[in-house]
Amino acid sequence: MSEHIKVKQDGAVLEITFARPDKKNALSNAMYRAATQALNGAQKNGAIRVVLFSSEGDAFTAGNDLSDFASAAAGKRDELAAHGFLEALARADKPIVAAVSGLAVGVGTTMLLHCDLVYVAETAKLTTPFVNLALVPEAASSMLLPARIGHVRAFAMFSLGAGISGPEALALGLANKVLPKDEVLRAAREAARTLATRPLGAIVATKKLMRDRERILARIDEEGAIFTERLQTDEAREAFRAFAERRQPDFTKLAS
Ligand code: COA
Repeated sequence: MSEHIKVKQDGAVLEITFARPDKKNALSNAMYRAATQALNGAQKNGAIRVVLFSSEGDAFTAGNDLSDFASAAAGKRDELAAHGFLEALARADKPIVAAVSGLAVGVGTTMLLHCDLVYVAETAKLTTPFVNLALVPEAASSMLLPARIGHVRAFAMFSLGAGISGPEALALGLANKVLPKDEVLRAAREAARTLATRPLGAIVATKKLMRDRERILARIDEEGAIFTERLQTDEAREAFRAFAERRQPDFTKLAS
């Protein structure tokens, strides 16, 4: 388990909270493992009908912990735990609600493509700057994001790091509701509790009909293989060094 993931049961709702606010809730391997365990456990636990993701502090999550990426890029063989989390999200039968009260970087945004109800703050910013890190999209977002918001917007998010505000997320169909920051969690909890009163069998069957799970899982694997290769490139090493040194990366002298 990780002290940075809090898991709390509220009636039939399991709330999984990213609780590492001093690091903008960046997700370490330990956090991914804890969140995966909680999410998978919820699928098997008859007392849980809905999962809710929330966060502490001003960010939803700054995405993958870049020091874990840097270790992987340096050849350290501690398996990245993100893959298990993404697979658990894609496999989840029960509905997932998200309360996005601030910045959602990388997986913070791509995981929303696997959530069934999403509530965002007016001040939220959704970004997927994979190319800035010399990486490629994950969580089947290379397929799901363009399907949701169109190719050119998704490409700008992936390759230019273009961000989407809370109101834009609503307009583009990435969120159900945009709210003042302090009201997001309450609205998400209310929705989760309401969802928990609905017939679970019908919800699970509806969710299953709405998602091509096998295709999503296949794309996650496909992306994962390229992502792992890209982590070993000089481009990626430069990106992680630059983040640690608090400077802009310089890719111009590196061959493709
Ligand atoms: N991995 C590891 N640590 C991270 C992190 C990440 N993804 N994001 C933020 N942090 C840490 C910072 O290093 C800093 O730690 P420190 O106080 O020990 O120096 C702390 O969280 C606060 O971040 P800071 O950069 O000072 O806050 P900010 O408000 O100026 O900027 C972000 C916030 C999220 C915009 C910026 O930190 C950032 O760009 N992070 C990287 C996001 C990213 O590329 N994620 C991976 C996507 S695949």
